[in-house]
Amino acid sequence: MNITILGIESSCDDTSAAVIENGYLLSNKIANQHVHKAYGGVVPELASRAHLQNIVPVVEAALKEAGRLKSDISAIAYTRGPGLMGALLVGASFAKGLSIALKVPLIDVNHLHAHILSVFISRMGDKNQYPQFPFLCLLVSGGHTQLIIMKSQLDFEIIGQTIDDAAGEAFDKCAKIIGLPYPGGPWIDKLAQKGNSKAFSFARAVVQGLDFSFSGLKTSFLYFLRDQVKDNKSFITDHQNDLCASLQEAIIGSLMQKLVRAAKETGIRDIAVAGGVSANSGLRKSLYQLGVNKNWRVFVPSVQYATDNAAMIAITGYYKYLSGQFSSQQVTPAARFDHL
Ligand code: KG4
Ligand code: ZN
Repeated sequence: MNITILGIESSCDDTSAAVIENGYLLSNKIANQHVHKAYGGVVPELASRAHLQNIVPVVEAALKEAGRLKSDISAIAYTRGPGLMGALLVGASFAKGLSIALKVPLIDVNHLHAHILSVFISRMGDKNQYPQFPFLCLLVSGGHTQLIIMKSQLDFEIIGQTIDDAAGEAFDKCAKIIGLPYPGGPWIDKLAQKGNSKAFSFARAVVQGLDFSFSGLKTSFLYFLRDQVKDNKSFITDHQNDLCASLQEAIIGSLMQKLVRAAKETGIRDIAVAGGVSANSGLRKSLYQLGVNKNWRVFVPSVQYATDNAAMIAITGYYKYLSGQFSSQQVTPAARFDHL
């Protein structure tokens, strides 16, 4: 019998639905919300309203592309958290309602757990290689930066995390300082490719053990620009590419330094990255380079599965289904759901 999982993601500003059957992806549809651009960040109330408008058409589109009917669904997996409460409520309520209507089980999924399992997303016939357990994962998103040992798909240990800003937040906040649109990470990535990463250097935090810190870097970036702009009003526009390249180098440098340390301390050589920031081309390049130097096997989700998507929710739902980890109608969304 087929195991067909409908995944639903609505934790922030993307409404997404996906179908995974017997572990293989059949469809992954995402409705991005452009309404936030004018505000320089995600406006929670607008996000909830847009999710309400998008969720039915996105689920229908995912089923249609998969060539499956509602009656084919074995279980519905949805993002329980972390995320914006109003946004999570839309996905959770929809999933709960559909599960009652179709008489199929519900599976609640932690968004961060799902980001990590994005390395297991593949379509039938893809020649993907998967990491072997235990593997190390650097999870870098807009809200989180963590180093995790994955012992199995459903068992893991967090061995390091940021003590202040997340890596994606550092990209976005610094991008805002130099007037780039939200989210700034992809913009910095694009402009950095034309810049010199050695042009400027910014203070990097020294943090104990395997933890990270990015708030000092953001302050150093801000103060440096404030001083430069005093003498040259057009400093930022004159040096935009070099600023982006140097900033990106600083963020990636901090991430890679702790990743190397974690690999050394644990002796693990299968290394994965996940989360929105893993879409960064500089990070990917550094990681592949380190892989060659350190004799690691490196696993990076394709860009479409690195940023928020429901395929990762569906694949996590699939593994939870296999181990019988279902959820009741009483489980409520959790805006802060930091323990995986
Ligand atoms: O995982 P994600 O889509 O959402 C969260 O769960 O937070 O991550 C979003 C973050 C944002 O901070 C965004 O700027 C960053 O990922 N991001 C990037 C790139 N693409 C997305 N950061 C750097 N370079 C990119 N190419
Ligand atoms: Zn995410």
